[in-house]
Amino acid sequence: MRIATTIAETRAAVRELRAAGRSIGLVPTMGALHAGHLWLVRAARAQCDAVVVSIFVNPTQFGPNEDFAKYPRTWDADCAMLESEGVDLIFAPGAEEMYPAGASTLVGVEGVSDRLDGVSRPGHFRGVSTVVAKLFLIVAPDKAFFGQKDAAQVAVLRKMVRDLNFDLELVVCPIVREADGLALSSRNRYLSVEERRQALVLSRALGRVEEKIAQGVMESAALIGEALAVIGQEPSVRVDYCRIVDPDSLEDVADVRAGALAAVAAWVGSTRLIDNALVKPR
Ligand code: PAJ
Repeated sequence: MRIATTIAETRAAVRELRAAGRSIGLVPTMGALHAGHLWLVRAARAQCDAVVVSIFVNPTQFGPNEDFAKYPRTWDADCAMLESEGVDLIFAPGAEEMYPAGASTLVGVEGVSDRLDGVSRPGHFRGVSTVVAKLFLIVAPDKAFFGQKDAAQVAVLRKMVRDLNFDLELVVCPIVREADGLALSSRNRYLSVEERRQALVLSRALGRVEEKIAQGVMESAALIGEALAVIGQEPSVRVDYCRIVDPDSLEDVADVRAGALAAVAAWVGSTRLIDNALVKPR
């Protein structure tokens, strides 16, 4: 496994892989790797000849009062995991490599970036689309792998790939969960034992929505009411949003008959967690 910290080294390594006729899968991450990330790596391994994983805690997608400084950084463990998954190349640039002084070009996907997490995290998706566009240009993968866990991010990046004609396939992998339902997240490390227990209301709320749909409830307002009632069982959990939207435009839908994305974000203590489910009637 090679480790590159500069764009030039990465381009050279990718050129070698290409010269050997290998297709390339890219898995962008911010490190602090867990089983959710590893499933993306395994999907890339299964679908491409060579796997490149980027590890970069991207400052431009964090707001001024967010957790950039304390975001978990577990470099040695990350490298060991990726090595044992048979990854070919890690691209781990520093912030100056990705954003040299004077850089002022941003990639923004208008509309969709201002919905769901974009409301409470203004500028977040512009940071994501900018860094992912740069990673796509640096690695030029055949396929890039993302998790459904970040459903709004997927909507933003799908639109970016389409609008900017990136010549790659975006592959979306299902949410990996703990046995009790909690969606894996690097931020779960912030939770105390008690908060970890409280956090289960997110997946339980989505479970209730699916259950109600199976019973024939189709109206979004009623389904959202059900989800909020479940989250309300843990009074210290504060809801940021709980919506039922079109998975591509992220705009609210009145009912789920055509299929929809049920998405929730909530604060558990000082940790903001997100979860979602793609729902559709039988
Ligand atoms: P990060 O939070 O490290 O996540 C990297 C990838 O892992 C994302 O595509 C995310 O959706 C996926 N992922 C995280 N938890 C998952 C889970 N429980 N199940 C399935 N997939 C999961 O998302 C980012 O980094 C950044 O925004 C990035 C795209 C790297 C740009 O900086």
